[in-house]
Amino acid sequence: MDHYVLKHTTYDSPALSPGKLAYLSSGLDAVQGWLVPSTALYLAGLEQAQRGAVPGGLCEIGVHRGKSFLAMAIDAPAGDPAVAIDVFDLQHLNEDGTSSKALDDFRDNLRAWSLDDRVEIVQGSSLELEADGFLEAGPRFRLFSVDGGHGADYVLNDLRIAEATLAPGGVVAADDVFNIHWLGVCTGVFRYFHSGGTLVPFALIPNKLLLTDAASVDANRDRMRELFAAGLTKTDVPMLDGVIDVYGDVPWELVDDAGSPASLQRPDDSVDAVRAELTGAQLELARLRTRLREVQDDKRTLQRRVRRLREAAPPPAPAEPASGGLRRKARALLRGAR
Ligand SMILES: C[S@@+](CC[C@H](N)C(=O)[O-])C[C@H]1O[C@@H](n2cnc3c(N)ncnc32)[C@H](O)[C@@H]1O
Repeated sequence: MDHYVLKHTTYDSPALSPGKLAYLSSGLDAVQGWLVPSTALYLAGLEQAQRGAVPGGLCEIGVHRGKSFLAMAIDAPAGDPAVAIDVFDLQHLNEDGTSSKALDDFRDNLRAWSLDDRVEIVQGSSLELEADGFLEAGPRFRLFSVDGGHGADYVLNDLRIAEATLAPGGVVAADDVFNIHWLGVCTGVFRYFHSGGTLVPFALIPNKLLLTDAASVDANRDRMRELFAAGLTKTDVPMLDGVIDVYGDVPWELVDDAGSPASLQRPDDSVDAVRAELTGAQLELARLRTRLREVQDDKRTLQRRVRRLREAAPPPAPAEPASGGLRRKARALLRGAR
């Protein structure tokens, strides 16, 4: 059975590097794209925590103007490869109609965050990557976002590319797996698993399923729990042959390395903001319900114990009848008292 997690009532992020904090608190809105704000934080925090622990760089298929790419790449070590793959201005190759000519805007966004000289941009369909030799350099990415074509063939192809190039211990973030408007994604994921895909899901963040290699599930689950305990809404939810943790879009407060606070940026009058508040309130309610259940359980246990003790106690000894001599003395005393 999956469990609600009920420990937290505040939503502090892990300590973020200055660039990540700036992007998440004041840069997100300026980049048009598709990304739940909490998910930007989950990707950013995970990228940061992987450094030194998991070798390799960053890659995304389906970049658009870079909203999720920037969350991953800002402040990442300069020596780590960062590869951005999209059909970009070749939109006739995009069957979903999810972008318009976005390459110039993406380049501007990279420049704004001082990333323009270190990101490798690949303009073309991900279906051509294997033929173009992309797999030949082997496993080399620690964080790989799969957010390209949402049809089943693209998703299957992109997950296989991600699996083949993922460094041991790395994480693949697969977009829209459970989105009812993009069922091609779900079909592509089914096909991936039915055809021998080896990645294993270990967490669900808003709109993205996180997967890793089988040997690294526990390490990645622990890392996410340590980073984002306040965002955990459920743990150990059965999925395929294993279990996953679920993280919500909650009202995160950001902190930087020095502990200074900032708010996660959400679009003005954003539905996301209301949704995050609602999730926070629902979690709080679940916490209180669980606490109430615990108190009621404690009460029942105590009542049972009292009953058992009462039953086990020896019956009270009958009062000794007063002897005749005592009765006479008592009467004499009473007479004297009158
Ligand atoms: C949902 S958008 C990506 C959103 C982006 N990650 C963000 O943070 O805003 C999907 C992207 O996939 C790209 N795309 C579609 N088909 C593709 C393909 N065959 N190969 C590579 N990219 C593709 C589209 O051009 C579009 O930019």
